[in-house]
Amino acid sequence: MTDFYPHIPVLLDASVEFLITDKSGIYIDTTLGGGGHSSLILQNLNRDATLLGVDQDSEAHAAAAEKIGDDSRFQPISGNFGYLKTIIPANYHGKVTGILFDLGVSTHQIREPGRGFSFQHDGPLDMRMSELSGVSAYDVVNDYDYEKLRDIIYHYGEERLSRQIAREIINRRPIETTLELREAIENVLYGRYIIKSVARVFQAIRIEVNRELDVLKQGLTDALELLSPGGRIVAISYHSLEDRLVKNFFKSGNFEGTVEKDFYGNPVTALKMFTRQIITPSDEEIKNNPAARSAKLRVAEKTRGDE
Ligand SMILES: C[S@@+](CC[C@H](N)C(=O)[O-])C[C@H]1O[C@@H](n2cnc3c(N)ncnc32)[C@H](O)[C@@H]1O
Repeated sequence: MTDFYPHIPVLLDASVEFLITDKSGIYIDTTLGGGGHSSLILQNLNRDATLLGVDQDSEAHAAAAEKIGDDSRFQPISGNFGYLKTIIPANYHGKVTGILFDLGVSTHQIREPGRGFSFQHDGPLDMRMSELSGVSAYDVVNDYDYEKLRDIIYHYGEERLSRQIAREIINRRPIETTLELREAIENVLYGRYIIKSVARVFQAIRIEVNRELDVLKQGLTDALELLSPGGRIVAISYHSLEDRLVKNFFKSGNFEGTVEKDFYGNPVTALKMFTRQIITPSDEEIKNNPAARSAKLRVAEKTRGDE
């Protein structure tokens, strides 16, 4: 039995407040995790409401079940939100009132050395959020060719020294554990920001393993179809690559952010941004939960057709 590290929900009150527009509505929490957001959603809903809780991690489902307990309004769904339309039963399509995305990994996943997400604990190179995923961090680190590794570190980690780090990783193969990977990265770094670079490379590999950006695009696209007119998507992102996709999609309904115009020059969008400013955690929230420090919350509403 491994220790369980509880996850502190981020931007909890604000996200739930924006999400709920009808206390008897149908809601989806696409990133159930330990059930922190879902519990508060349920506390704010009537007895005839429905909440579907999606996660691809079986450990998250076990933790959420414990937190939520027996509640007939709640339905857990195992699966990847990249296939949201497929995993949500057809009778809810087009009728969903609000959909929450609280992206990234949970504290439990990060702190559990056996999952291989953390550079602070020694563990196997895994980083898969679901045991069903094909590629693990071991495969990326040990099998990818130089160009592919360099590009992942550069694009997904936004790390300047991607070429040197990719070369060092390849020279040290086979790399079996998270600490061996960390040593390889540290060997090419210098200066005060070593830890930030290590974190960036680990982030890059995690994004690749879980195909996080492609999955997010598909998840948002499906979410829009599942919503009823006037329904909302609330998204909490933790790095700029995710936030850019969310922002563009909320602004324009596509990931490039290009707003289409009708014959008269009026914007034609399937969503409208509900909040002008991004919402970020207070200093106090960050002090109590440093994992919240990079969180950004955005809200969009599906247009009703006559807008
Ligand atoms: C930040 S945690 C969510 C924490 C949750 N809001 C809470 O308060 O307890 C993110 C969760 O989303 C899950 N997740 C991430 N990407 C996913 C995906 N593509 N499909 C399904 N679940 C995903 C992870 O397994 C993790 O449990």
